[in-house]
Amino acid sequence: MSKLILVTGGTGYIGSHTCIELMNEGFEVLIADNLSNSDISVLDGIEKTSGKRPFFEKVDLSDETSTNLLFDKYPGIVAIIHFAAYKAVGESVSIPLKYYYNNLNSLIHLLNNMERKKVANIVFSSSCTVYGEPDELPVTEKAPIKPASSPYGNTKQICEEILRDTGAVNENLNIISLRYFNPVGAHPSANIGELPLGVPNNLVPFITQTAIGLRDELKVFGSDYNTPDGTAIRDYINVVDLAKAHVIAIKRLLGKAGKKKLEVFNLGTGRGVSVLEVINAFEKASGVKLKYKIVDRREGDVEKVFADTRFANTELGWKAEKNLEETLASAWKWEKKIRNK
Ligand code: NAD
Ligand code: UD1
Repeated sequence: MSKLILVTGGTGYIGSHTCIELMNEGFEVLIADNLSNSDISVLDGIEKTSGKRPFFEKVDLSDETSTNLLFDKYPGIVAIIHFAAYKAVGESVSIPLKYYYNNLNSLIHLLNNMERKKVANIVFSSSCTVYGEPDELPVTEKAPIKPASSPYGNTKQICEEILRDTGAVNENLNIISLRYFNPVGAHPSANIGELPLGVPNNLVPFITQTAIGLRDELKVFGSDYNTPDGTAIRDYINVVDLAKAHVIAIKRLLGKAGKKKLEVFNLGTGRGVSVLEVINAFEKASGVKLKYKIVDRREGDVEKVFADTRFANTELGWKAEKNLEETLASAWKWEKKIRNK
């Protein structure tokens, strides 16, 4: 087990896609997930797609003893990709301690064990939420961090600070923080995809669930933004493209290029797309007319944010490849498959 990668949150949405790409590249994968927001059957989807089944341990990383036992059981871990976290923005506003407890403790327990077991490399799932409403677009990694608009966003900022401060004193530690823009879509095989619990908060799962008939209509949050069609602009990145960037980050950390304390990369397409443009692209990709209505803005939403991807493009040699229609077609294929349609 010379190249064992610990993928925390690996049965989740982005984690499961990343496990496939890692195994396709010859890495051995150990998933640690407490299944708080994912299903064990995801392992079958990963195996069906990659031909290999990752090791799996049901572990709550916010529990110190369980995390210690995990590292004792698997001495061969060479790097970690840390996806495990709670991510529901709205819930984090109403139950902040749940988010601070889980997201901060899980990272701290991992870092303690990395020091204890001499594991040198970690890739962290961060978010473009750290930029808030950026002063300049596209937003670069050098843009200032803005006050977080939710406890969830604040956990991402604090985790980045924890990583920076720990990297400064632990000379063996190498860190890459990846700031995702808006991950969407599913694996083209439709063996895995996004499985939101209950009513989706995010745009694309809400669109596909409306199109399949689970929801009456999509509410478009605001049409009075200072954008060409008045709806808010985001940078929607295909989840498989995103997953591939993690493999590159791991190779970078394991090789010479990654020997810097902390590197931060934006992962987006560089293209800003409005909500109405997403709806149009979905209708084209699926052939389904979507029912929607314009309502008031959603509290806490920014007007526009999209990535300057040049640093990731040049330093990682990575670029988002899939276009929005193709990505939405993959989300639609997945939605139809899980609803048996
Ligand atoms: P997800 O909820 O699908 O996956 C997270 C996984 O972590 C789940 O399987 C969950 O069961 C697990 N988990 C949570 N707490 C845990 C704990 N204490 N111990 C063990 N497992 C635990 O979310 P995702 O969309 O795949 O996101 C992955 C990461 O990327 C998260 O850190 C998220 O904050 C970050 N991120 C996501 C997005 C997005 O739009 N999906 C955007 C930016 C950043
Ligand atoms: C949200 C979070 C962000 C988090 C990301 C991943 C907020 C303010 N931000 O990003 O921190 O990292 O999810 O979970 O919640 N929209 C509609 N109708 C809907 C749903 C969304 O019009 O039913 C619009 C939103 O107003 C937004 C766009 O679609 O303009 C994308 O929304 P969403 O998918 O929720 O992502 P973000 O808000 O960008």
